Amino acid sequence: RLGNRRSSFPQRPPLRISSKFINDSNNKTNKQTNKQLSNIFKTSMSEVETTLVLIKPDAVERELVGEILIRIERKGLTIRAMKMLKCTEEIARKHYSVHVDKPFFPKLLKFITSAPLVAIVVEGNKAISVVRSMVGSTDCCTAAPGTIRGDLGSSKGNNLVHASDSKDAAAYEIPIWFPEGLINWRRADQSWVDPDGDLHRAKLAESSFSLQ
Ligand code: RTP
Ligand code: MG
Repeated sequence: RLGNRRSSFPQRPPLRISSKFINDSNNKTNKQTNKQLSNIFKTSMSEVETTLVLIKPDAVERELVGEILIRIERKGLTIRAMKMLKCTEEIARKHYSVHVDKPFFPKLLKFITSAPLVAIVVEGNKAISVVRSMVGSTDCCTAAPGTIRGDLGSSKGNNLVHASDSKDAAAYEIPIWFPEGLINWRRADQSWVDPDGDLHRAKLAESSFSLQ
């Protein structure tokens, strides 16, 4: 059951209980299961998310792909999909749609389409905020030491990596780069990395709750 993850889009959002079910609390069986579930949520702090990472053209040209990937793997995050490609103008405009009217967009467009990049979908407990904090702030010159940008870069524009900045952004960006979907697998050490994640998934799968 633990391996029973969805692999096709729309991407699975973080596990949530159907509000319809929770509200149906007059039913005796539901009352019992509601109690069980509230115990699960009290004891489980895990929230499995997927996020999009781009290893940008400057990092590919500078041969930093391995350095960046190793940080992702060592953090215990799971790579659910990965490919190298040259970003087209069409993809760039879709991906950076919130920035198309900004003064820096022409420079960004030229940069992001200038050489191949590596697109990756990363999964893990609170992966969106975890990866953003590993990446560091936009300008490499002020990004904190220990972050990818802080350790490896010296520019605001050529800042090595992209990472989705919210659940909505991840849900929007992932299908742009991976319309074919993700690889359905789990790391062998997953239960050591995020024990609550498995517990959470297993208990929810056992219950009669419908998952949104
Ligand atoms: P990203 O979307 O690539 O993860 O970066 P971010 O959230 O840290 O920064 P964002 O504000 O979304 O900007 C997108 C990318 O545009 C380039 N940029 N250049 N003033 C500038 O020269 C400037 N500002 C932003 C960067 O490549 C930035 O990552
Ligand atoms: Mg951004």
